[in-house]
Amino acid sequence: MAAPLIAFALLILPQAVFSYRYDIEENKASAPSCPSYACKKSSQTFEQSQCAYYDESDYTYYVNPCAQSTESCMLKGENPGNHTCQTAQTKLSWPGEKCTQTGDCNPIYSTACTNGICVGLSSGVACTDSNYCNPGLSCQGTPGSMKCAPLIQAGSKGCRADFDCVPYAGCNITSTTDSSENACVQYWSIKNDEFVAICGEHQSNLCKYNLCRERDGGFKCYEKFENTHIIPWPCDLNAKATDCNFTHHEFNFLPDCVCGLNPTGAAYCSLIPGDGPVIEYEAALKSWLFSTSSSQCNTLRRFESQCILDFWGNTKGIYALMYWYLYMSYYPQIQDTQDCVLKTFYPSYVSYKELYKKYDDQDDGAAMLELVFFTYILAIFN
Ligand SMILES: *[C@@H]1O[C@H](CO)[C@@H](O)[C@H](O)[C@H]1NC(C)=O
Ligand SMILES: *[C@@H]1O[C@H](CO)[C@@H](O)[C@H](O)[C@H]1NC(C)=O
Ligand SMILES: *[C@@H]1O[C@H](CO)[C@@H](O)[C@H](O)[C@H]1NC(C)=O
Repeated sequence: MAAPLIAFALLILPQAVFSYRYDIEENKASAPSCPSYACKKSSQTFEQSQCAYYDESDYTYYVNPCAQSTESCMLKGENPGNHTCQTAQTKLSWPGEKCTQTGDCNPIYSTACTNGICVGLSSGVACTDSNYCNPGLSCQGTPGSMKCAPLIQAGSKGCRADFDCVPYAGCNITSTTDSSENACVQYWSIKNDEFVAICGEHQSNLCKYNLCRERDGGFKCYEKFENTHIIPWPCDLNAKATDCNFTHHEFNFLPDCVCGLNPTGAAYCSLIPGDGPVIEYEAALKSWLFSTSSSQCNTLRRFESQCILDFWGNTKGIYALMYWYLYMSYYPQIQDTQDCVLKTFYPSYVSYKELYKKYDDQDDGAAMLELVFFTYILAIFN
């Protein structure tokens, strides 16, 4: 999919769990492109831990939220049968992340939990990739003699990728063969009309407004996108190659057309750069990356909610980041969606929405308690 933020794919972008095509239905002449979603009717009896029933006569999933908040409803691909609640898998911790016992640490990268932290490799120790290194380090050097070494500061050269740079900077990859040419540059710092090395799908998170274009024999950052895109933008899954096409000046975006989880089977286009929720998400992400806490994550985990929750003391920042991330990612799915359907498929979105909407009324102490309470939910989507 033309994700709004390609560069943050690692962060989380859940490859739209519900965006698969419903091929079974497409074989039927009168079948709609997208199924409908509604609350379970009182006349329907669900088995224990059943969360959805697909009724082929009206192309509708009837749903019921899972009893345990640690569970969420997994639709079994294109199988129109009954669907059940599944407990989220326990997530393993990377070097630098919290643990209570060795088994909490990802055994590939860490074999000890010491003082509540999964232990990784220290500076100067031989490594094969950056996952093994402790926070503040990446695996650098020439093949065969790689060692964990301190991350490169913004403004200094020598990076091969973002993860060689401090958490709030990315690598301006001028040369793929000679890393001494490449400087670490603060995210969102290159101004309008200045060169940036790489520009994929008009986007670079090194550019101030995340946008870039071909210019003067290279790529240049572009000014703030004057957004005339109206959202939600409805689309027809059968015409998805053109329906979501949005052109503005020389920028052309073609995001995915995604089935919504609504009562009418309506589909909507995914968001594009410059859309309100994307801008809000970028601001929240920036506030995390530029916080001192982000240096407590393994360099490859800078965008991972697990590490963000472990270390970011800014509760309001966490609510904002999680809420906007989930809202942006699930935007097409959650338009005109009934509460029972949201709770069934996106319990963490529902929780964070509540927390985010009311955090202004709370002092941070009370908010922190709730955060601890909701932490487990995150395991579902990261
Ligand atoms: C699926 O669920 C429906 C409604 O709850 C029930 O009538 C049916 O027997 C179930 N089918 C299977 C195969 O479990
Ligand atoms: C980024 O790379 C481009 C292309 O190589 C170069 O012209 C530009 O000066 C670099 N910017 C920074 C801040 O390193
Ligand atoms: C999208 O629209 C632009 C401008 O109307 C057009 O040039 C482009 O070919 C379209 N792309 C697709 C995939 O239809």
